[in-house]
Amino acid sequence: MFDGTITNAPHVPRGRAFLDSRDMIRNPVSVFERYREALGPTFTFHFGGAMRALVTTEPELIGAVLKGQRESFHKSDIQVERMVEFQGMGLVNSHGEAWYRQRRLLAKGFAQSRMSAVLPLQAEVLDDLMTRLHADAAEGPVDIHQQMVRVTLRLVGNALFGRSMSMAELEQIGDAISDIQAFIVRQIVQPYKIPWFRISGQTEAFQRIRRAGDAIVMQHVQARREAGTGETDFLRLLLETPYHDTGDNLTEEQVLIESLQLMVAGNETSSNALSWVFYLLGRHPEYIEQIRAEVDEVVGTGAFSFTNLHELALTRRVIDEALRLYPPFWMIDRIALHDVELCGVHVPKGTMVIPYIYGTHRNTAFWDDPERFDPSRFEAAAAKARPSFGYIPFGGGPRVCIGNGMAIMQMLLIIATFVRETDFALAEDAPVGIKPMMLLRPDGPIMMRVSRR
Ligand code: HEM
Repeated sequence: MFDGTITNAPHVPRGRAFLDSRDMIRNPVSVFERYREALGPTFTFHFGGAMRALVTTEPELIGAVLKGQRESFHKSDIQVERMVEFQGMGLVNSHGEAWYRQRRLLAKGFAQSRMSAVLPLQAEVLDDLMTRLHADAAEGPVDIHQQMVRVTLRLVGNALFGRSMSMAELEQIGDAISDIQAFIVRQIVQPYKIPWFRISGQTEAFQRIRRAGDAIVMQHVQARREAGTGETDFLRLLLETPYHDTGDNLTEEQVLIESLQLMVAGNETSSNALSWVFYLLGRHPEYIEQIRAEVDEVVGTGAFSFTNLHELALTRRVIDEALRLYPPFWMIDRIALHDVELCGVHVPKGTMVIPYIYGTHRNTAFWDDPERFDPSRFEAAAAKARPSFGYIPFGGGPRVCIGNGMAIMQMLLIIATFVRETDFALAEDAPVGIKPMMLLRPDGPIMMRVSRR
């Protein structure tokens, strides 16, 4: 029988977890790494000394949570509730039948044929951004993270809204998203302050920022609906594709929610991933040369296409290795809906279960010398020998990242464009640390010298 405790997994004493709560707010990954070293690949602790949590880096357990026994889990309420308040209920935070209908409909937008169709426009937009980057770089070293935020915002915005949305509008929406996300994080880590945020007017201030962003998107939704035609972008798909079961179309409100959720999900994830790729290339410049040789051989001076980008095997391995060392989602969280037995571990109802991606990607049971940057880990034979759910930068099971193919395509395009057109190197020797918020960001700027080749 379950008596409310997690059994068969080592436990961090409550007092220790309570003492660590400040560190947990500042850098939860460093605390998790300490616990992992002391207790092994799966352990339990009380969040802030209070909420029961099971953290795991074991593929078998992760596979059970995300796939085999997924019916026993939901996304965590704290994140879902806070997100609904600011973003409404869309694919990212829905469950059950409602999730399945949205997922089926949105998946059409990520089909290979659609991605191939948007690629030429993406390459054109990127050329524009490269011109802006060179103008900035002429003044001195640039923060590559800041540049990547701009690049991915534009590319994701372009895939969603075609040419119609201006950079100024995208930047306003992008700023609104980051401000609101920072506010959501504050509410998650300091839930006792939520009543104060309401009384002091802070919640309403962020609602106003959200309404201003919504108004921009809604204006485009309505204009497109009236025009009746448009480019092969996502907005068109959302407006024109009916649900598989009822044949109804999405309401304008639902189109707004889904497009904003895709912007949130697709922008900061990719910009962080790319920042870490460039950082790692800066620290291992021999790979810049190898990628350049590969791009010269496969693409030469010609145009990038969906096919030739996916022939850049080494570039892809570098991306995979960067996502291993610095997974933008450093953890996934779920809540047990009822008492459940998970590969021999007894998990009571209400427990937060955390597939800890950062730690999984460093689990020495299947990663040799895990801190070493080594893209050859992703050569086919080595990758095949590893357990599934041992490498999960995009999650796993039915809720695996829906934008995973788009993210990889955009990263290949950006890296290949960069190495073909520019010389770049880190401007400072000091290592850049991690800042795990909702996503794994660099803790400070990544300054690079960039010049035209
Ligand atoms: C390197 C870039 C990216 C990374 C590392 C990443 C990672 C992830 C992860 C780990 C999940 C699963 C979360 C969970 O199970 O709780 C997820 C879900 C999701 N991602 Fe991504 N993502 C990236 C890019 C994108 C892009 C470009 C888009 C869209 C434009 C996108 C849209 C989504 C959506 C909508 C979901 C929710 C899917 C569902 O619940 O069915 N992501 N992503």
